[in-house]
Amino acid sequence: MKKWKCGGCGFVHDGDSAPETCPKCGALKETFALLDDAAANLVERARHTNMLHAQMIALARELEHTCQDGIKDNLDAGCVDVFKKSLAHAYEIMKLSMAELQGHMGKGKWG
Ligand SMILES: [Fe+2]
Repeated sequence: MKKWKCGGCGFVHDGDSAPETCPKCGALKETFALLDDAAANLVERARHTNMLHAQMIALARELEHTCQDGIKDNLDAGCVDVFKKSLAHAYEIMKLSMAELQGHMGKGKWG
């Protein structure tokens, strides 16, 4: 499917033609540029991986909340230690995926 990129905000529209106006910024149809096959394939490919990173961040956020509950529960020192260590890993997972997504945006692996 063809992909059209808004020159105003970068929104990528999928379709046979550009939209009359950009749903994100309201720019007119003439602002959109048709992506070549390589750029369109990169966007399509990146969408899948970016969604995987989004899922990783969401799962790590759930782990964060579970760990915080466990720390608050405070059954014993061993449990609190495991929850604190796991909380640090949850933050690391979130930061890794966020950094990767930031890199994708800078390399056109977005849309
Ligand atoms: Fe736009």
